[in-house]
Amino acid sequence: MREPIPEQRSPMMEIRGLEGWYGESHVLHGMNLSIGEGEVVTLLGRNGVGKTTTLRAIMGILDRAEGSIVFRGRELLGLPPERIARSGIGYCPEERGIFSDLTVEENLLLLPVVGQGGMSVEQIHTLFPNLKERRSSYGTKLSGGEQQMLAIGRILRTGAKLLLLDEPTEGLAPVIVQQIGVAIRLLKQKGFTILLVEQNFHFASSVADRHYVVEGGQVVDEVDNADIAVRSQQLQAYLGV
Ligand SMILES: Nc1ncnc2c1ncn2[C@@H]1O[C@H](COP(=O)(O)OP(=O)(O)OP(=O)(O)O)[C@@H](O)[C@H]1O
Ligand SMILES: [Mg+2]
Repeated sequence: MREPIPEQRSPMMEIRGLEGWYGESHVLHGMNLSIGEGEVVTLLGRNGVGKTTTLRAIMGILDRAEGSIVFRGRELLGLPPERIARSGIGYCPEERGIFSDLTVEENLLLLPVVGQGGMSVEQIHTLFPNLKERRSSYGTKLSGGEQQMLAIGRILRTGAKLLLLDEPTEGLAPVIVQQIGVAIRLLKQKGFTILLVEQNFHFASSVADRHYVVEGGQVVDEVDNADIAVRSQQLQAYLGV
């Protein structure tokens, strides 16, 4: 008797053979990765290996990209950035991009809503109470941690279901890193899908389901978070920690 074919759900995002350039400089060399609905997946790797560039390629803001980035069955490569954001992807860049002459509240309300089911300002305040306390403060007055919370908070309002977070813990005090970790785990519980760029491998292992190791513009290894303890030596070698 023939075995029934198991039902295969296609991933939320599938990236195949992604090549990327800044001008003449070729920095992505065939990135392959996939992200399932509801997963938290990291891109781990040293400085300059192409993590941010991968996120920029997804958002359509790289000079030139080739290959394939399929999101919910639709090819994104070649679409204008605005259409990509509207398909339900929220980008939290490494430099955070908070407007210093706007208040926390104004920054929070700035991005256009792209889909249903975005979080209300009240819900974002529950997730990040600091943003509620600081809602009338200007961007310039915020600490690094508050800026990071605001940069994440403002994409939660838009209804985006896939969140791209670029090194959200970079330069932050351990207690703030912990708060960001709690928020990411809560967002996963709420059904968000997250692609997280990290160099902090301890933080990554505390929030993620799966990790991709990036070197030289390619994925060179994939590690399930359940196997992280047995793979830790090799991971540390990859990351040079
Ligand atoms: N605007 C740019 N113009 C030219 N080259 C760039 C530009 N931005 C990045 N690069 C180069 O592209 C490569 C990949 O950079 P990318 O920013 O993706 O690295 P990363 O993995 O995010 O590193 P980091 O951990 O430092 O953020 C690096 O060699 C970098 O110097
Ligand atoms: Mg980067």
